[in-house]
Amino acid sequence: MITLDGKNTSKDIKEELEVEVSQLLANGGKRPHLAAILVGNDGASETYIGAKVKACDKVGFESTLIRFESDVTVEELLAEIERVNENTDIDGLIVQLPLPKHIDEMKVTEAINPIKDVDGFHPTNIGRMALNLPTYLPATPAGILELLERHEVETSGKHCVVIGRSHIVGSPMSILMARNNYPGNCTVTLTHSRTINLKEITKTADILIVALGKAEFVTSDMIKDGVCIIDVGITRVKSDKTKSGWKLLGDVAFEKVKDKCSFITPVPGGVGPMTIAMLLKNTLISAKSKLGS
Ligand code: GUN
Repeated sequence: MITLDGKNTSKDIKEELEVEVSQLLANGGKRPHLAAILVGNDGASETYIGAKVKACDKVGFESTLIRFESDVTVEELLAEIERVNENTDIDGLIVQLPLPKHIDEMKVTEAINPIKDVDGFHPTNIGRMALNLPTYLPATPAGILELLERHEVETSGKHCVVIGRSHIVGSPMSILMARNNYPGNCTVTLTHSRTINLKEITKTADILIVALGKAEFVTSDMIKDGVCIIDVGITRVKSDKTKSGWKLLGDVAFEKVKDKCSFITPVPGGVGPMTIAMLLKNTLISAKSKLGS
């Protein structure tokens, strides 16, 4: 069993980005600049945004965090997005999800200029991804592709089963794994809450990508020997064994399945750190695209 180590791989990517920032500056460019909008004070979103800002700092990017109270109106939010769209100093804009229930997430996503949409969530960029045109790939799926590629996991002709059809992970992942690319060229089955006989399907997976948000959902009886498992889940549960009193669990019962796997991502330290690295990579692409224009 080989661990797909996202912690070290993301560290490598961040080091590569640092070098690229130096080169960009040497070629007359400016520091890549990421703006992030955070609404409310949801604990998990605070943690993710904090990690994104810190990562910007680490690789030499500028970052701007724009905060709103949870009762912000959609009009106020759209006006701020417009200001960032117009600000030529800012290369990338993300709006941390989820948003409060009274805000239409799609309306907000559509307001972001696709050129600055470094999350890759805008319909234009999702369409470009589906057509295999140059675009920003959503960060978590892009991080999974990078992990597969850097660990030389064979994907062509394999049966890839994805559990979960979210806009952020499951749906784009299913498209990317079916594309005529490496990693890709898989026969893909996208499963979700209405899927019948899930276990019969997961047992035929050569690559199993799990993104449904239920701690330790995938157990040893659901997989075949030699499977490559990508675990996107992060659920915080109470623990009397850690100093903080909390621990993170994936969607896969790691200890129970690991010996049957060819490859597996740990939680924490698997997909999570890759997401941030890929967001930075997208921001650099945006900054570099301006250099020639
Ligand atoms: N919430 C959970 N994952 C993400 C992500 O990748 N981007 C944004 N903007 N919000 C998220």
